[in-house]
Amino acid sequence: MPHFEKPVEGSWTQHYPELGTSPVSYEDSLSPEHYELERNAIFRQTWLNVGLVEQAPRTGSYFTKEIHAARTSVIVVRDADGELRGYHNICRHRGNKLVWEDYPREETRGTCRQFVCKYHGWRYGLDGACTFVQQEPEFFDLDKADYGLVPVQVEVWEGFVFVHLDPNNEVPLREYLGRFATWMDGYPFGAMTEVYKYRAVVGSNWKLYIDAFTEFYHAPVLHAKQYISDESTKLMSFGFEGLHYELDGLHGMVSSWGGMAPPKDESMVKPIERILRSGNFGPWDRPDIDGLDPLPPGLNPARHRSWGLDSFLFFPNFMVLTWAPGWYLTYHYWPTAYNEHVFEGTLYFPPAKTARDRMRQELAAVTFKEFGLQDCNTLEATQTMLESRVVDRFPLNDQEILLRHLHKVAGDYVAAYEKAVTA
Ligand code: FES
Ligand SMILES: [Fe+2]
Repeated sequence: MPHFEKPVEGSWTQHYPELGTSPVSYEDSLSPEHYELERNAIFRQTWLNVGLVEQAPRTGSYFTKEIHAARTSVIVVRDADGELRGYHNICRHRGNKLVWEDYPREETRGTCRQFVCKYHGWRYGLDGACTFVQQEPEFFDLDKADYGLVPVQVEVWEGFVFVHLDPNNEVPLREYLGRFATWMDGYPFGAMTEVYKYRAVVGSNWKLYIDAFTEFYHAPVLHAKQYISDESTKLMSFGFEGLHYELDGLHGMVSSWGGMAPPKDESMVKPIERILRSGNFGPWDRPDIDGLDPLPPGLNPARHRSWGLDSFLFFPNFMVLTWAPGWYLTYHYWPTAYNEHVFEGTLYFPPAKTARDRMRQELAAVTFKEFGLQDCNTLEATQTMLESRVVDRFPLNDQEILLRHLHKVAGDYVAAYEKAVTA
C-alpha cells in the first residue's frame, strides 16, 4: 500500500488557513430556504457544463438541458456559421417551452432548420431571431425583431459545452476553470467517444454526493465488498491516503493511487477481472492514442509510480476523473430540491476495436455502477439523519479537505448574493 509523504510544514488542510480545521455545519444542506438562495446565488452565477460538442455536430443540431436549480431549460444549437449558441428554452409569445418532445420535463436533441413553437406556431431561426408570427397583422405594433429568443452565454472547453445564465457575466470560461483546466491541456478527450451513462435521482442534497466523491477515506470501508476478502482486510487495516490534494480558487482536486490496473498481484482481484483484464479502474491496457503517453504534465501531480486517477471538481457541480489506464469519467449533480438531486455519471472510452475491448468497457461500467449505488445508499441515510439536527457540528479530517472547501465556497456564494440583494 503506497503511502505519500506529507509536506513537513503541515497537513493539506493547513496549507489553506482560510478553511480552518474546526468541525463543520451541514445546515447548508437541510432547508428549502437555503436551497432557494443557492439557486440564484450559485446556479445562475457560474459556468455550468451542459453537454459535449458531439451532441450538436452540424448546423441545425441542437440539444436541451433542464437546469431545475436555475429554474430554466436551455437550448444549445449549432448555427449556420458552425458556432454554438444558447437560448433559454422559452417562446416569446406566451411562454411555452419551445423545444420538447412528448414530455415537457424531458431533455431532447435533434436537428432542425428552425424552431417552431407547438402552441401557436411562432418560428425562430438558429440565430434566435423570430422569423414568423402566425396571423401577425392581428397583433398590435408587434415588431418581430423585438421577440428573438433570450440568449445565454455558451463557451466550450476541450469539447465540453458550458452555459452561463447571468447575462452580465464577464469571466470567460477558461479563466473561470483556472489552473486545473490547464493541467489537462492535451488530454485526448476528443478520442474518447464511446459513452456509458447513468442517471439517478438521489434523495440527498447535491453537495452530499460531491462530498462522497471527493474523498477516498470511505473507500476501504463502504466499498469493502468490491474487493476480494484478503485485499479488503488489508485495505481496512491500512486505511487510505490520497497522493495529492490541491485547491485553486473555487475548484479542487485529489489524486489517488491505483494499484488495481493492472494489479501488482493478480490474485488481488476477482476472476472475471483477471480474465477480461478490466475492473473498477477500467480496462487495464492503455489504449494506443495520442495524449496518453506521455500524459499532460499536470496529471499525477505527485509523480507517484502507483498513480491511479485524478479527480477534479469544477465548482459548482462538474467533476472530471482521469484514470491511469487511459479513460475518463464525468459526474454532474443537478439539484431538484434541498434534499434531492439528479446524478449523472458518464464513462468515456476510445471506441472498442474488438469484442473483448467492448466487454472490458462493459465490465468497467457495471463495476462503476456498483460503487455508485453503494455511495448513494449512504447519502439518503445521511440526509435523513442530518435533518434530525440532533448533531450540528461534524469533524472533517485532512482527506476531507475538498468537502470543507466545497461547503465554504458554496456558502461564500450565498453570502455574497444575500449581501447584494439586501444592499
Ligand atoms: S406560446 Fe409559443 S407560439 Fe404561442
Ligand atoms: Fe465511494
